[in-house]
Amino acid sequence: MKDVYILAVETTCDETSIAIVKNGHDVVALTILTQMDEHALYGGVVPEIASRRHTENITMVLEETLKKANMSVNDVDAIAVSYKPGLLGSLLVGVEFAKTLSFVYKKPLIGVNHLIGHIYANNLEDNLEFPVIALVVSGGHTELSIMHNDYEFEMLGCTMDDAIGEAYDKVARVLGYPYPGGPHIDKAAALGKDTYKLTKPVDDDTYNFSYSGLKSQIINLVNTEKMKNNEIRKEDLACSFQNIAVDELERKVEKAFNETGIKRLVIAGGVSANSYLKEQMKVLCDKHEAKLYIPRLLYCTDNAAMIGAAAYPLFLKKEFKDLSLNPSSHSDLEQ
Ligand code: KG4
Ligand code: ZN
Repeated sequence: MKDVYILAVETTCDETSIAIVKNGHDVVALTILTQMDEHALYGGVVPEIASRRHTENITMVLEETLKKANMSVNDVDAIAVSYKPGLLGSLLVGVEFAKTLSFVYKKPLIGVNHLIGHIYANNLEDNLEFPVIALVVSGGHTELSIMHNDYEFEMLGCTMDDAIGEAYDKVARVLGYPYPGGPHIDKAAALGKDTYKLTKPVDDDTYNFSYSGLKSQIINLVNTEKMKNNEIRKEDLACSFQNIAVDELERKVEKAFNETGIKRLVIAGGVSANSYLKEQMKVLCDKHEAKLYIPRLLYCTDNAAMIGAAAYPLFLKKEFKDLSLNPSSHSDLEQ
């Protein structure tokens, strides 16, 4: 069969990224331009700034990617774009850009769900086999599902309030770490001990998660200690928080292993970059003799290569979009 080259565009949040991916597995070229440092000044992503920067930079990111690949847009077989979920203004830049390329170069257009993109990041270095338990842990999502086949999801549970990445970012902020806080908590926790007694979320025997109570406990604790002029042991608090946050994920994944009998786990989204989470999930998968998929660090956080990987099965099924494609902030696991 002829090789399939997909040019993929990703602008859901604060990374402008374009990639060319061959046959859904091989990254021919990838460019990621992050705006993280600028948003860090404000303690989080400022949507208006994000969409402006995407607009200013996207053409340059395309040129750079084509140069790295030594290809032109004429050489690719399709244009893919993540069109949901995300910041609407940011999504709009990527979607309009991809629609224009598709129209001008007469290439089919593929709309990709960003969350599903995170899962397919695992196809860039491995080969996803089904059925697999899929855990998406990012700044906006905490979702557990069974993936029966390409694009066939059965939802098990999701967060009832904050996403795990959001909790990491808020806890980091109250501890004085810059945005995005997840990597800082990751490093701090590795240096600390679990000495703070925090209450765990209630075990309601569902597959749902809740992180807002844990986050609020820490914010209250820090504020109370500050008022009393007491020292906060940042590393220890980061460690106590992280242990509970990751234990929750483990507990639900173990329940899924036991109840579904499926012995494969794929972890996706920005928080899958977390070292403690990776370690713990390896231990859990070894215990259950389950296969674990976690992407390489570069592919854990937002990037267009994962969008190219997720677009490939849709290309094979000829599931194309037309120029009426609009961005959506809907965060389901639907194509
Ligand atoms: O998937 P992603 O890049 O963007 C979204 O789609 O949300 O995820 C970003 C999230 C942020 O909350 C960030 O703090 C978190 O992933 N993150 C981490 C780590 N690296 C990134 N959280 C914990 N430990 C990390 N090492
Ligand atoms: Zn993401």
